Amino acid sequence: MQTTPTDAQNTEDVVDLLRAQHGRIRDLFDEVKNSDGQARKDAFQELVRLLAVHETAEEEIVHPSARSLPGGDGIVDDRLAEERAAKEALSELDGMDTDDPRFLPKLDALRVDVLTHARAEERYEFDRLKDQFSPAQLKGFAAAIRAAQATAPTHPHPGTESAAKNALMGPMVAIADRVRDMIRDARQS
Ligand SMILES: [Fe+2]
Ligand SMILES: [Fe+2]
Repeated sequence: MQTTPTDAQNTEDVVDLLRAQHGRIRDLFDEVKNSDGQARKDAFQELVRLLAVHETAEEEIVHPSARSLPGGDGIVDDRLAEERAAKEALSELDGMDTDDPRFLPKLDALRVDVLTHARAEERYEFDRLKDQFSPAQLKGFAAAIRAAQATAPTHPHPGTESAAKNALMGPMVAIADRVRDMIRDARQS
């Protein structure tokens, strides 16, 4: 199923964009679960790509800013530990056939963890961003994230899928690097 037009592409401010991405991530978990064959592979790839963009953006913008809250270090350390665990679970899923009977139970465990994580971010961290950055900076971050997302590779190279475990995770590292660079540029401008 093609899933390109999203609210996330049209929002302006980084807090709105990250919130819209949480919604899109939730929908993609459902799409992966409710499809099979190539459609499930495609939805899973889109989910992994979006998570790579999204979590990197949060590591660059949201979590550093939340450290200055009362109790902020504890809040942020918990979120970072959740993000690390999610990356490990994703990497494990990426090494599996999406129609393997063990795939969906693992995906579902990850879905619960990722959505709980997202709720904690919205509750404890997101609003704080509006106090720490100017409206122009918040829009600049959103533009940088959207630009990084738009230039991310959309498909792994043909043929690699069955050949190599973690065929998708290599490109994900490249996407994370690109998001990081674009956000750092936006911060300086
Ligand atoms: Fe996150
Ligand atoms: Fe998030």
